[in-house]
Amino acid sequence: MRAKPAPNELDAGESMSADELARHQITCLQYTLKRAHDNVPFYRRAFDAAGVTPEDCRNLADLARFPFTTKVDLREHYPFGMFAVPMSDVRRLHASSGTTGRPTVVGYTDRDLSVWADVVARSIRAAGGRPGHKVHISYGYGLFTGGLGAHYGAERAGCTVIPASGGMTARQVQIIQDFHPEIIMIIPSYMLTLLDEFERQGIDPRTTSLQVGIFGAEQWTEEMRREIEGRMGIDAVDIYGLSEVMGPGVAQECVETKDGLHIWEDHFYPEVVDPLTDEVMAEGADGELVFTSLTKEALPIIRYRTRDLTRLIPGTARPAFRRMARITGRGDDMIILRGVNLFPSQIEETVLRTPGVAPHFQTHLSRRGRMDHMTVRVEARPDAPAGRRAAAGAEIAKAVKDGVGVSVEVDVVDPDSLERSVGKIRRVIDSRTE
Ligand code: DLL
Repeated sequence: MRAKPAPNELDAGESMSADELARHQITCLQYTLKRAHDNVPFYRRAFDAAGVTPEDCRNLADLARFPFTTKVDLREHYPFGMFAVPMSDVRRLHASSGTTGRPTVVGYTDRDLSVWADVVARSIRAAGGRPGHKVHISYGYGLFTGGLGAHYGAERAGCTVIPASGGMTARQVQIIQDFHPEIIMIIPSYMLTLLDEFERQGIDPRTTSLQVGIFGAEQWTEEMRREIEGRMGIDAVDIYGLSEVMGPGVAQECVETKDGLHIWEDHFYPEVVDPLTDEVMAEGADGELVFTSLTKEALPIIRYRTRDLTRLIPGTARPAFRRMARITGRGDDMIILRGVNLFPSQIEETVLRTPGVAPHFQTHLSRRGRMDHMTVRVEARPDAPAGRRAAAGAEIAKAVKDGVGVSVEVDVVDPDSLERSVGKIRRVIDSRTE
């Protein structure tokens, strides 16, 4: 597989210089603010309340004067209240899963769908995909943006699409064996389920035709990358996106550097803010990622609070675009255990570094008396010797205590006993009551 694209393989947006990009961004930003203000009553009211007009945005730094948009705002205008075009111009709808309340609904014009296909095609190319490759898509098809977003991007990239969707794991293995895809696009935790299925069928996953995996839609760690690359013999790269901003393809890691995700800044303008003070943070500082769409028509989005925690860093493989570091957590995933903050990713790192246990784990939070209690349930590897189980449990508990400063109970359970997920995995089960 050719990794680095030749200059003539880059699209026009991707080949902009830093100056061209900055000029493009301010023009598009001014246009987007005006369209949002003129066509969406919510934005008009929000700008009025903050005492700003679209004309107040003269340079990119002026964006900081404009109000944020949150998931609550989208929910309050359910289903179509944030749209800036008549419904007859909306060609497709998607919605978030709504596990934490009403779903948020997003819409796309013809042009939005075309831009989306372009940015996903660009992402696939950055991952090493080229025309003629076959792309096996295991993201779910439906209201979730993963399946269809990846699908049209892979077609735009000149690839052959295998629209497998999620589920029917044994059949996915068969299709990969028979159709010989070079690329797989899949949620990382579902990749683990697929890997187990290969092994169950007696197939060495390193012998498949797959060369690259494009993983996203949920948080994963460097340790998970090593596990997947080692067991599958592929390059594993990160793709990021969210429905409110577009879907998959907002940012993508380049296979030749694997050093964080280049944000496709000609369409999505990023900021990182302090989640407590709302101040815009300097490059390199950790905080909450905020996005403003630059070219979207149906659902322009101004300073959307993603709740995803990361930092902005300069571009490498695509120098004009900034990168975002791998997401380290979501504001709403943070576990507060006896006053100590921890993220599921910290548990994942520890589990994956411990010999004898599989990367399948769940954390359960409960209350014992007046104390919070956390149990990490983690599966033993099928080939782990009996004595290894107890030792692995003690090692994980010690690593969490040393690293995070909080005591947890670790229960090493039988292989294959924890629930497997096809979509985004639920790592934390919290049964504490207030
Ligand atoms: O998950 C879009 C997507 C589909 C991205 C397929 C990549 C691949 P939503 O369902 O709206 O959209 O969920 C968005 O998922 O705010 C993050 O918390 C999380 N997320 C998405 N990609 C990553 C990633 C899709 N690469 C939410 N790393 C986001 C960590 C991710 N978290």
